[in-house]
Amino acid sequence: MRLDKYLSELNIGSRSQVKTYIRQKLIKVNGELATKPEQKVDETKDIITFRGNTLQYQRYVYYMLNKPQGVVSATQDNTAKTVVDIIDSPRKADLFPVGRLDKDTEGLLLLTNDGEMAHDMLSPKKHVNKTYLVTIKEKLSEEAINKLEIGVDIGDEKPTAPAMVQVQDDYHILLTIQEGRFHQVKRMLKAVDNEVTHLKRISFGALTLDEKLAPGESRELTPQEVELIHEETNATGQGSGYF
Ligand code: URA
Repeated sequence: MRLDKYLSELNIGSRSQVKTYIRQKLIKVNGELATKPEQKVDETKDIITFRGNTLQYQRYVYYMLNKPQGVVSATQDNTAKTVVDIIDSPRKADLFPVGRLDKDTEGLLLLTNDGEMAHDMLSPKKHVNKTYLVTIKEKLSEEAINKLEIGVDIGDEKPTAPAMVQVQDDYHILLTIQEGRFHQVKRMLKAVDNEVTHLKRISFGALTLDEKLAPGESRELTPQEVELIHEETNATGQGSGYF
């Protein structure tokens, strides 16, 4: 990739700032002073320094977004803002969301450029838990809770897989599912004659939504969080089963 792109992806500065740094002779590639922003570098092999400090390029990046309502889980959209539009990252152009949340759903969404990890997190075989804080129109009966936990017919070929319901109060439940069917939570509540009035995802696998992130805010995952999701997708291989 071009040297100026490499440096701006590492957050050394904007594309124009890094050009200035190159002109100021602050950048070396394999011990030689860099002179041209368009110089090609190999991020896997070349040793690149800025003010004498060796830079470390991260092939894969991972972000947690507290998705606000009104934004679509896509990389591009003709009319609405996308989750990629609102991510604060110098690697924006490479990022995509790991799965989807509806436009009116808020909460934890993971964005990355790591296709393999995304595939694993979404694979039905991996049984990755997703927990939603669901605001409902009516109090749930014991019978409805049992049905949701066993599996309900939402009009697909198969009923939903077992789920876990934790009642918070009359109008709020935590619902944990391991599938990711279209509008699944809303359709599950409809199947027990109820209705979702607000939906927020609060965890995805080993990741929990960072309460410090206001809707619309994002941050990079910590190395520990990245390790956790890799452990989770590697270890569960054939699936950990339902609850
Ligand atoms: N289930 C839904 O109905 N909507 C979402 O956005 C996520 C899960």
